[in-house]
Amino acid sequence: MQSRAGQLKRAGRTIAFVPTMGFLHEGHLSLMRIGRERADTLVASIFVNPTQFAPGEDFEAYPRDMQRDLAMARSVGVDIVFTPDDTMMYAQGFQTYVSLEELPRGLCGQSRPIFFRGVATVVAKLFNIVGPDIAVFGEKDFQQLAVIRRMVKDLNFGIEIVGGPTVREADGLAMSSRNAYLRPEERPAALSLHDALRQSQAMVRAGERRADAIIAAAERHIASFAVNTIDYIAIADPDTLEDMASVDRPARMALAVKVGATRLIDNMALGR
Ligand code: PAF
Repeated sequence: MQSRAGQLKRAGRTIAFVPTMGFLHEGHLSLMRIGRERADTLVASIFVNPTQFAPGEDFEAYPRDMQRDLAMARSVGVDIVFTPDDTMMYAQGFQTYVSLEELPRGLCGQSRPIFFRGVATVVAKLFNIVGPDIAVFGEKDFQQLAVIRRMVKDLNFGIEIVGGPTVREADGLAMSSRNAYLRPEERPAALSLHDALRQSQAMVRAGERRADAIIAAAERHIASFAVNTIDYIAIADPDTLEDMASVDRPARMALAVKVGATRLIDNMALGR
């Protein structure tokens, strides 16, 4: 992949890149379509990255379907699908990681303390291998997008990072490979994440500014489903991800909830 990318660059072709962990859905395809528009060559990667899963998380169970993924990638014009395996990415003796100081601390970092180190490390490696001009990441993983933007700036990668809007099912559920884990009877509980975000937007539109009041209403709605366990609900500055007490400027509401055994995340802009 690295030498192919070198050839493409020497031939003057620009490269757009969409990293994924596979089990593709319309959300991934929307990112690929953005990449397709923005460069001569579109590269996607499919790699379930072990270093971003803690022991006891769903690394082994993570859904995988390479043949289906390859067909879907082809359908949106991906030129190259890079599919390394664990030993290629993490050779014996591997010991170099990328970790950020502040951005990974809150939100998902509270319950997944090694997650962003794994993400930043694998994305840095993939950037070095693929050598893209631009890379596209979903806004559904809002903290991840902030971490990648910061890493690219701090380490001078010289890659344009583009955020793609969250794609939702017809009923509002944010698309995620992990939705495959949901039991049919858990669906109404899963929809409470989107409903709570919409309700919060409506509260802000109606003039509510107090973050604690907005969060409390969201908590009440989500907790009204017995299968839900709230990990966090936060209203944060979109760049620093620091908690905001008042929605007096653009803010991001982000939440993570375990619906039965499935951990889901979602987020939405508030106050604009
Ligand atoms: O968002 C994902 O699918 C993963 O975290 C990523 C960016 C491909 C890194 O493994």
